[in-house]
Amino acid sequence: MESTDQIIVALDFDSRRAAEQVVDLLGDECRFYKVGLELLTAAGPDLIRSLVAKGNEVFLDLKLFEIPNSVAGAVRAAGTLGASMVTVHAMGGTDIMAAAVTAARDFPRLRVLALTVVTSMTGSDLADIGVNASTEEQVLRLARLADDAGCHGVIASPQEAAHLRHALGSDSLIVTPGVTLPGVSQAEHARPGTPRAAMAAGASHIVVGRSVTRAEDPVAALRLIRADLGV
Ligand code: C5P
Repeated sequence: MESTDQIIVALDFDSRRAAEQVVDLLGDECRFYKVGLELLTAAGPDLIRSLVAKGNEVFLDLKLFEIPNSVAGAVRAAGTLGASMVTVHAMGGTDIMAAAVTAARDFPRLRVLALTVVTSMTGSDLADIGVNASTEEQVLRLARLADDAGCHGVIASPQEAAHLRHALGSDSLIVTPGVTLPGVSQAEHARPGTPRAAMAAGASHIVVGRSVTRAEDPVAALRLIRADLGV
């Protein structure tokens, strides 16, 4: 894995034009993009094909939570587009995660990542939905469930990465959003951390969004992150 491939830039935009402007600007500085539901819905799947055709890797953040048959179909569609990563909610349970993993087998580069507890949630948010565990306990429980279901890794906050690396072993991918540079506003991330802290704790990849894409100079912002990582 090239060091720059540890950094995934989230294209959280409402149009293909806005997304491609940033991709063009970043050029060789970034080869791994996350496309979420907003951009996929607004721009359509052709954007994914185009990003892949230009040599980029795409993390398709579908956050699937559906019946297993529908999850499998969506994972196959992601694989057909050439995506490298796709997400499924671990809260949906073993059957949907196993269905995703089975569907991904036809696409050798496609990795299924499980979402545990989204980084904006706190313990009291969990209590509100009837989960009487701490965030840490719930993250660990869901990560183990995902691992047992055959998922290739998990999405986790920087603060959870060390715990999860210990629990899951060295092979699992641990992808951490909620990354902010020191001194930069932490927006709505409840469990943020710096890129360096996330990687040192055992993350395999970090996801950065607005601190790069909304920066006055996205290339400079990405270089700051790389400098923080020492890569
Ligand atoms: O905050 P930022 O713009 O860096 O967000 C990048 C990605 O991180 C988003 O696309 C979102 O999926 C994820 N994120 C998250 N929890 C938050 C905020 C963002 O998982 N609280």
